Amino acid sequence: MKRQRIATAEVQTFEKSHIEEMRKMAPECMVLLKNDGTLPFEKPGMIALYGSGARRTIKGGTGSGDVNVRHFVTVEEGLENAGFTITTKKWLDSYDKILQETKADYFREIRKQADAYGVNPMLFAMGKTAPEPEYQFSLDGEGDTAIYVLARISGEGADRQAVKGDICLTDTEVRDILELSKKYKKFVLVLNVGGLVDLHPVEQVKTVLLMGQPGTPAGDALADVILGKSYPSGKLTMSWASLDAYPSTEGFGDVNDTDYREGIYVGYRYFDTVGMEPDYPFGFGLGYSTFKIFSDKVDVDCEKITVCTTVANTGTAPGKEVVQVYVSVPPKELDQPYQRLAGYAKTGELRPGDTEKLMIQIPTASLASYHEENAAYVLEQGIYFIRVGNSSRNTKIEGAFSLNADVLVEREKNIGGESGFKDRKPQRNYITYATEKEEKEAVQITELKAEEFKGKETNYQELPTEILKGEGCSWNDVINGKKTVDEFLAGLSDEELAWLCIGEYTDAEDLLEIIGNASKKVAGAAGETTGRLADLKLPAIVMADGPAGLRLSQDFTIHSGVAKGSASVGGDMLLVYTMEELQAMMEMEKADAEDSKTDMYHQYCVAIPIGTDIAQSWNDQLAQKCGDIVGEEMEIFGIHAWLAPALNIQRSPLCGRNFEYYSEDPFLSGCMAASVTKGVQQHDGCAATIKHFACNNQETNRFFSNSRVSERAMREIYLKGFEICVKEAQPHFIMTSYNLINGEHACCRKDLLTDVLRDEWGFQGVVMTDWLVTGGMGSKGEKWPCASAAGNIKAGNDLTMPGMPSDKEDILNALKDQAHPYALTKVELQCCAKRILEKIILLDQQAG
Ligand code: BGC
Repeated sequence: MKRQRIATAEVQTFEKSHIEEMRKMAPECMVLLKNDGTLPFEKPGMIALYGSGARRTIKGGTGSGDVNVRHFVTVEEGLENAGFTITTKKWLDSYDKILQETKADYFREIRKQADAYGVNPMLFAMGKTAPEPEYQFSLDGEGDTAIYVLARISGEGADRQAVKGDICLTDTEVRDILELSKKYKKFVLVLNVGGLVDLHPVEQVKTVLLMGQPGTPAGDALADVILGKSYPSGKLTMSWASLDAYPSTEGFGDVNDTDYREGIYVGYRYFDTVGMEPDYPFGFGLGYSTFKIFSDKVDVDCEKITVCTTVANTGTAPGKEVVQVYVSVPPKELDQPYQRLAGYAKTGELRPGDTEKLMIQIPTASLASYHEENAAYVLEQGIYFIRVGNSSRNTKIEGAFSLNADVLVEREKNIGGESGFKDRKPQRNYITYATEKEEKEAVQITELKAEEFKGKETNYQELPTEILKGEGCSWNDVINGKKTVDEFLAGLSDEELAWLCIGEYTDAEDLLEIIGNASKKVAGAAGETTGRLADLKLPAIVMADGPAGLRLSQDFTIHSGVAKGSASVGGDMLLVYTMEELQAMMEMEKADAEDSKTDMYHQYCVAIPIGTDIAQSWNDQLAQKCGDIVGEEMEIFGIHAWLAPALNIQRSPLCGRNFEYYSEDPFLSGCMAASVTKGVQQHDGCAATIKHFACNNQETNRFFSNSRVSERAMREIYLKGFEICVKEAQPHFIMTSYNLINGEHACCRKDLLTDVLRDEWGFQGVVMTDWLVTGGMGSKGEKWPCASAAGNIKAGNDLTMPGMPSDKEDILNALKDQAHPYALTKVELQCCAKRILEKIILLDQQAG
């Protein structure tokens, strides 16, 4: 598909087809947590619809991960489209009124605070959400069927809280849900949330559907599921338990240092090891049918484990099932969790009585653990059990192998610095089940010999030699093959090299303009590479946010070659402005548009399901299709790099950005990211940017928060997903995170960005920073300093985004001054610049 300038506001063919495709896929992302037979309904009829998400449905979270859609389908609309008659319009109107008042009051207060601190109100409002109101409206909707839609929203810049209206239900919600569940013959609680809510107070409710936040077709997709035109087949990607039960809750959100004391024991790895029962386990989800998984055979050798299964639909409705393979690694010198996810596969649609064969292959070496003292991945001697099932708490041992001695799988070097503590080893009290002992005794154990494994050793690279000053050339000569990239580089001054390694900035930029909105070529895109070498004919790479679609301005005009558009971030945060201020802004935009004397163009993008929902599908093809849909829109709107997928680990339910991420499990996160990346990059000239590398697991004080984490936890949990994605899908870009890791900004960590990413994993792309990490947001006397643009270059972080005048100064000073904390050699700068140039050639040529 070629770039289009869409000058009509009419719905485009691509929008229609993308929405249709999303509507078909969204049910696969929904997780049925409980069902007493109420779902699906037989046919549409009268429905009493209540709850915060009924009319004010949340399609996805706030901040850079938001998508400015033309329209999205709310639950109310979706049910009406499907032929239901809603009998609670009065309730919905009353809720609307109180919600608007609450939001207006809340953001008025935020504005007052921002003015008192003398800070930009929009920046101050970032990530803040108004409290859920308490109220009492009569629950008098007609009919014998009711649906209550509970909604929660969160976003970057703030973490979630263990308060009523967030993780906890409000008194109103508890009272109403309990009353409705008694009053109506059929009652369904629908969760329109992007993460955990504490359902303990409403435990009596018998039918609970996690709808998630499915993007543009939200309400229609829900109606399809409610009516059984489709069926939920998602499985949880995070364990749901009481907040106190997660070891990460202690110390979460510290403004300076967050200690990851639980080490590798994140999510189910912890619950299974200490023998604790979560409310809903990792990998769990019901459907409208039942399935049986037969294990046909399990083969093991030094290279791979092959699990062959047959899945049968044993129920009365169509559905899909996920086969999950977990492996229990024997604890020896290294402690080990009860099990870890090692493979999975999903069936296609199975009608009652249908069967499907699924084969899952797992590289044996992927079961290695990291031994810090030896700086190596190792498989320790002992017996490894292979468990097959449809949730982390419903498996059977179907295979096993033994190792006669320890195996060194790969020798690395130590990275990541010192956390300053030893990880906690939880009191081991592994879960078990009635037949586990028998299964262990009955299983056939394949004997593997340590000496038959082939170990590897990473070869860490030295810097190349400096490219000496030369004549230089135009970029066209490079494109035409007359000159090399090195010859182009030889002609660049230090300042030009520095520009190349910083995004496009304007010297007198208003900060607000560049928050996720710094592109000049595409309105509302988050940024682009430098335009300062335009005389040499060097084109720029344009980047736009995700992960729930493309975040762009909806409307734009062109002023002297620059695309100027409507706000691309905002939502409720715009309530910090008074009516007069908003009016004045609109007037300005209108005048600007008239001034430009050009047409008004439109960019209506489609919102895909949030990251967590995509992962809940446990369907690699679905994830790839999501990437493909975004890739198609990137081509239409002229975006080269999508700032997604995001795959930080859901370490705690409190992280405000969990909805953008996939899972508490690194294997699943990595597989999902790889599939989405493939979907995007199957489009010529389109690149994925996996983010935020790494250990970015909280939003509180995100620019200055230091994650203290052991090397083992880093490598096995927090880096693993990135490793899988890099090795499997070679994303063109990776974005570093804001936080520090063990006292050094992640964006300035050479050990992560060069030694691990490039030398150990073979990453061939460009590394960029997250926006304004070098100080654009100011510092308020924090414990930790801002990151440095020179530090980025030194570490192999090629591109500081979105760029500021001080970044250039910093780089040039570091070249001149050997006393600079990150003193640079020219070749270090050239290496970063070269990687950017090579990506520009590649994407440009692919795009034609
Ligand atoms: C976010 C990134 C995003 C960037 C550009 C930052 O605030 O952390 O995820 O890609 O802005 O909008």
